[in-house]
Amino acid sequence: MNTATVLDFAAHTPVQNKAIPVRHLAFNFDASQADDKFYLRAELATAYFEALSIFLTYGEDLVIDTARHHRQFLTDPLLKQRVTALIGQEAIHSKMHNEWNDVLAQHRFPVPLFRFLGSKVFEYGFNRFPQPLKLSMMAGIEHFTAVLAEFMMKHEDNFFQTSDEQQRALWMWHMLEESEHKDIAYDVYQTLSANYPLRVVGFVIALITITVLVPLAATLIPVIRKPSNVLSLSYWKDVKRSAALIFGREDGVYGSSMSHIFDYLRRDFHPNDHDTSEWLAYYKQRLLDPKTGLLAPYFVREFTPGLQA
Ligand SMILES: [Fe+2]
Ligand SMILES: [Fe+2]
Repeated sequence: MNTATVLDFAAHTPVQNKAIPVRHLAFNFDASQADDKFYLRAELATAYFEALSIFLTYGEDLVIDTARHHRQFLTDPLLKQRVTALIGQEAIHSKMHNEWNDVLAQHRFPVPLFRFLGSKVFEYGFNRFPQPLKLSMMAGIEHFTAVLAEFMMKHEDNFFQTSDEQQRALWMWHMLEESEHKDIAYDVYQTLSANYPLRVVGFVIALITITVLVPLAATLIPVIRKPSNVLSLSYWKDVKRSAALIFGREDGVYGSSMSHIFDYLRRDFHPNDHDTSEWLAYYKQRLLDPKTGLLAPYFVREFTPGLQA
């Protein structure tokens, strides 16, 4: 990319020129507290988040490897620092979700099967893609986690119809940080590639993974956990309600976020066109206040990586 393009890019994008921290947490999950109707008392919608928790760890590992590979080609010390922080945040997300997934494995959940499927999809598929496509996928994945984070930050109550405080803390912390670092992968993509058709390809792969493959995997969970569900009228009512909670145009996580999701296809799109700074400020207080924050019982420490030449 030449200097003129860099300047042009900078002029059109409200890049957050801020270093971000890496936070360490210890949730000490307890299988006896795991609520399989965590999300709005809906079993299949909760299973979506359980399946997502498995597949996210592989997506995060791809983001980490791809970010590490491309960091060496960046020249802006602040963007390099932000990439290091992105890697650190994603590494801890992956670690914490793996701990949570180990708990789900004790909760009548086919975690080994899902890990097998996830690892094969990535090992024989995504991880073998050429680096430019992986860079585009990284930006695409981070777009979807930004969409999810914005929806969840705007629907805080959806996390409070459960007494499972640790699962709530896990997702709220993860959503806060996805929103906090939502522009980094995109800025790296635009800085090193900015190829629009390739950006669309990465978006489509992320779209199919998150809105087709993960929901398909999720549909297995309530049936494996309780096979009699297939004969239960109340379960089929749950299926209808759960589908609306994920895909419904009115209040579905993705269904009501369609304009945000597909805004990514705008040529001059930037993640910060969707301003979440006030929500982020609110949630930092809500979660991270040392005395009253929801994460206070689980918070270990944080550090901010230094600027890198
Ligand atoms: Fe993450
Ligand atoms: Fe992320």
